Amino acid sequence: KMASLVIAGIMAVSMAACTKDSGDKDMGALEKLTASGKLAIGTSADFPPYEFHKEINGKDTIVGFDIALAQAIADELGLKLEIKDMDFDGLLTALNAGTVDMVVAGMNPTAERALEVDFTKIYYTAEQTVLVKAENKDKYTSAASLAGLNIAAQKGTIQADLVAEQIENADIVALAKIPDLVMQLKSGMVEAIAVENAVAESYAKANPDLAVATFQFEIAEDEKGAAIAVKKGSEDLIEKLNEILDKLIADGKIDQFVVEANEMVE
Ligand code: ARG
Repeated sequence: KMASLVIAGIMAVSMAACTKDSGDKDMGALEKLTASGKLAIGTSADFPPYEFHKEINGKDTIVGFDIALAQAIADELGLKLEIKDMDFDGLLTALNAGTVDMVVAGMNPTAERALEVDFTKIYYTAEQTVLVKAENKDKYTSAASLAGLNIAAQKGTIQADLVAEQIENADIVALAKIPDLVMQLKSGMVEAIAVENAVAESYAKANPDLAVATFQFEIAEDEKGAAIAVKKGSEDLIEKLNEILDKLIADGKIDQFVVEANEMVE
């Protein structure tokens, strides 16, 4: 009798433990995020007009259309937005380590990255070009014209891959932050920086001695643009984010965020 009571007791305890465990597991990514009260995004704020530093009322602030987008998502979910600025090539590791809830960094949803994380739909389409010295603006019109040159790209980006794949014998200089690439270009250490059109335009606007070349890299249609990354297996969260993106796109909000971000670039 005593033994069966003990066994029943053990069973009750272990069943309770089981219920609690599976309860936690059943809680989807969206529910967990909502319960946490905050939305921590990882970004690399060297990418105007997507995300960049700007002094506002004497205070260093991270702004840009990715930030406006992240704020709109946080508002929609009723969460407090937190921005974590880091090197681009550390973002997916931070996401998988749980340091951030999502990555909003003008990131292309490549097949390779999709093995590691889940992506939303593309919220902004983009082409890839090179930023060069103003006097070379019309010199680099094709991949062949760039062959054999020193070309810079941000570490861990598709631009670094595009240079390796599409420019013959290029010497790639890969650095963590874009302003460091710009310094390399200005000092003549590299001839060009592989970067996205809108970002190249922003840097050219801020640096009159630089210009955007007419050359465009080739890039697969389904990877052409930026998407938000979340941890793998977050289907419910992806579904919700896509719903929010659809609405923001339909309401012209993203276009508006882009215009506003471009106005903030100096
Ligand atoms: N679109 C490129 C990629 O996904 C570069 C993105 C760089 N983003 C940044 N915030 N610096 O690889």
